[in-house]
Amino acid sequence: MNTEKKYGSSTRCVHVGTGADPNYGSVVTPIYQTTTYSIPNVKDLIALYGHKKTGYTYTSTGNPTQRAAEIKIADLEGSEDAAVFSAGMAAITAAINSVVENGDEVIAQNDLYGETFRLFKTMPEKRGITSHFFDASKVEEIEDMITDKTSLLYLETPTNPLLKLVDIQKATKIARKHGVTTILDNTFASPMNQRALELGVDIVVESATKSLSGHHHVVCGAAASTKDRIRKIKSMRGDYGQTLDPFGAFLLITGMQTMALRVERMNSNTMELAKMLEDHPKIMRVHYPGLKSHPQHEIAKKQMHGFGSLMAFEVEGGIPAITKLFDKLELVKLATSLGGVDTISTIPCISTHGGLTKEQQLSMGITENLVRASIGIEDPEDLLEDYKQALAQI
Ligand SMILES: Cc1ncc(COP(=O)(O)O)c(C=O)c1O
Repeated sequence: MNTEKKYGSSTRCVHVGTGADPNYGSVVTPIYQTTTYSIPNVKDLIALYGHKKTGYTYTSTGNPTQRAAEIKIADLEGSEDAAVFSAGMAAITAAINSVVENGDEVIAQNDLYGETFRLFKTMPEKRGITSHFFDASKVEEIEDMITDKTSLLYLETPTNPLLKLVDIQKATKIARKHGVTTILDNTFASPMNQRALELGVDIVVESATKSLSGHHHVVCGAAASTKDRIRKIKSMRGDYGQTLDPFGAFLLITGMQTMALRVERMNSNTMELAKMLEDHPKIMRVHYPGLKSHPQHEIAKKQMHGFGSLMAFEVEGGIPAITKLFDKLELVKLATSLGGVDTISTIPCISTHGGLTKEQQLSMGITENLVRASIGIEDPEDLLEDYKQALAQI
């Protein structure tokens, strides 16, 4: 495929990085299920290890199936290069480690994905790093937190579980002015809905477990950036043993090939459902950036191409009513994770944010009424009907 040509997003999802295999013409990218590679002679060995020749030496540092996935991700994110990992958290830690030195200061949001938040909370004891936290909707707070030791601004938008937004351009402008590197977790939006590098971010990370692979069948991660930054990030990946196995890479590739189609359907399903729930008498509030009632809807319109497949809503009657709701839902499963073809849903105060104290939960707006839903690709009328019939019975 001529990748310079202006093909549409579906065509690129299908073809970039995964053309016919040069050995036998296999249309599907083969799974190179090998740990090592036979090198023809010592001259080549010297050239390969001296980085004078490209090729593979050991799967922990590179593999053709993995590489095909990386080329596709770089195209989706609009970056020079990309790296894939054994988990989203592996991509996040490698990206952070590639930027932050012992003794630095970092600035991050106060409502990040739980594991990432814990990472920033525990880094100080381990590495003498000072973390400062700001409210996603108050980007202007960032500037006052920057000192000459600040090396990293870490963002995640939309946030989990309340779908708050960070104004990416405003935040990256402040960071650039002070020579601070920005990392953004694009998991909730996906590259189809938000091209964060074009908005000034330096490194994008993703839990590819979610929309990129899209079928709830593989745990994996991705980072996208310039060639130089990815070289450094890959060296961290090697040091910490965070490589993605060839079968995982194969599942990721297959998922990404249908990504444009899936995300389009997921966006429209979520919008329809959000509108229906917003008007429902048993629902107190719906949090979805695509709704006009979302306090940052204008920012969503400015920086997102679609509003995504995640929403949260508050059910009248709290846990007892939510318990009945899940008992009555027929299609929607009670499950953690997000971004897959099946609609799944969870109760943040018990699951994703269950490790926080009640005060911490309430300060973030997480009440016992809140349900988070990841909307899949089912027929919209079936999803609407499932929620309507379940709500009628609570
Ligand atoms: C926003 C976000 N970032 C990162 C992660 C971590 O990804 P993984 O489970 O693939 O390590 C998750 C997982 O749910 C997430 O929701």
